[in-house]
Amino acid sequence: MSHLPTGVVALAGISHPRANPHGLVVGTFQSLSLSPALVCFSIGRSSTSWPKIRSAGRLCASVLAEDQEHVCRALSSKQPDKFAGIDWSLSETGVPRIAGAHAWIDCEVTEELDGGDHTIAIARVLRMDHGRGDPLVFHRGRLGSYREPRAA
Ligand SMILES: Cc1cc2nc3c(=O)[nH]c(=O)nc-3n(C[C@H](O)[C@H](O)[C@H](O)COP(=O)(O)O)c2cc1C
Repeated sequence: MSHLPTGVVALAGISHPRANPHGLVVGTFQSLSLSPALVCFSIGRSSTSWPKIRSAGRLCASVLAEDQEHVCRALSSKQPDKFAGIDWSLSETGVPRIAGAHAWIDCEVTEELDGGDHTIAIARVLRMDHGRGDPLVFHRGRLGSYREPRAA
């Protein structure tokens, strides 16, 4: 599976507008359905951040930009305050968006399915916006850049 390239998506939720957000990074984020607009991702059963994000109900999936390797490292760590040093703001839907990301998908978890040692979460899309630049890419255990497709 390390040969399957993925995007790098930071999932973040907040229990209260003045609380600290909770977050983690996933490489399993994908579009599931267009009508209705649904996304899905897999979460390891040992994740300590997911139950906190899940209890908030809503979350933002920030598709990290190629210069956000430091955000990936912080949110995939086990440090207590993962958001120290990360610039974020609340979106109109009340979820924490990471500043400078490539795109944002605000969503609401509707279902969790058994996926072996992972939980498959399905979420309804509330709002989407895109930012700037190119996305960060994960491939063969390393973070890298997306290369523009060759002209047809
Ligand atoms: C590039 C990358 C992709 C990852 N993809 C996933 C994923 O799809 N699902 C998952 O549960 N954890 C994934 N992780 C691990 C989590 O981000 C993170 O390490 C772990 O959930 C942190 O622990 P916590 O949830 O207890 O805070 C990934 C980490 C990296 C760096």
